[in-house]
Amino acid sequence: MRDKTSRFADIEAWPNVIEPSKPIYEHVKGQWHQEIFKNDNPITLELACGRGEYTVGLSRLFPNQNHIGIDIKGDRIWKGSGIAMEEGLSNAAFLRAHLLELNNFFEKGEVADIWITFPDPRPRDRDIKRRVTHERFLEIYKNIVAKDATIRLKTDNTGLFEYTLELLQSREDVKDLIFTFDLYHSEYREECHEIRTRYEQKFSSEGHDIKYLKFRFK
Ligand SMILES: C[S@@+](CC[C@H](N)C(=O)[O-])C[C@H]1O[C@@H](n2cnc3c(N)ncnc32)[C@H](O)[C@@H]1O
Repeated sequence: MRDKTSRFADIEAWPNVIEPSKPIYEHVKGQWHQEIFKNDNPITLELACGRGEYTVGLSRLFPNQNHIGIDIKGDRIWKGSGIAMEEGLSNAAFLRAHLLELNNFFEKGEVADIWITFPDPRPRDRDIKRRVTHERFLEIYKNIVAKDATIRLKTDNTGLFEYTLELLQSREDVKDLIFTFDLYHSEYREECHEIRTRYEQKFSSEGHDIKYLKFRFK
C-alpha cells in the first residue's frame, strides 16, 4: 500500500478523479457527459463511496452507464480510482466532495440513480443533521436526480436504517419505497449484484444482517 502522500499524488495525476487541485473541479457541473464521459449515458452516483466498490463493480457490469463515486476523503477514493485506471474503465469517475455540496457539482436532473453505501451511522442525537439521509441531504438529492430516479441505501446499522425508513415513510414526496432488514434472505438480493463493499464485508463477518431500501421521489 502506498503512503498517504503518494496516494494524493496519484489521484492528482489520474484524470478519473475530480478534486479541488484541478481546474475542472470548478466547472464540472452540467459538464459530466461532455467533458468527462464523452457520451450521453445515464449517470449513477455512489455516495460516501470510500474505496468505491459499487462504482467499480457497476462500471464493469454496465458499460453503457456512467458511474461516479463521491467521498470527502481523497485517500479512500484512491483505491477505486486506481482500479478503474488499471482496468481502463472509462465509464467510472470519482469526485472528492462533501455531500452537502452536491448542488455545486450537478445540474438539476443530471443524475439518473443514487446508491448510498454504508454511510457513517452518526448515532448521537447531536449528530442527526450529519446523517447523510437527514432531510437536508434528501432535499439535495431530490434536486439533482432525474424524474423516476431510484435512490438506494445499504447499511448494517439498524438505528440509521430505522431512522431513514421513518423519515421516508413520513414524506409525501416519496413513492415506490421497498425495504428489507435482511438483504441476503430477500427477493432484493439480485438487484444488489453481489457487490460487497469493504464496510459490508467487515460488518457481515461480525454477524450483522445487511439492510436495504429503495425509493423514488414523486
Ligand atoms: C463507513 S464509510 C463507508 C465507505 C464505503 N461506502 C464502504 O461501504 O466500504 C463512510 C464514508 O463516507 C465518507 N463520508 C462521510 N460523510 C461524508 C460527507 N458528508 N460527504 C462525503 N463523504 C462523506 C467517509 O469519508 C467514509 O469514506
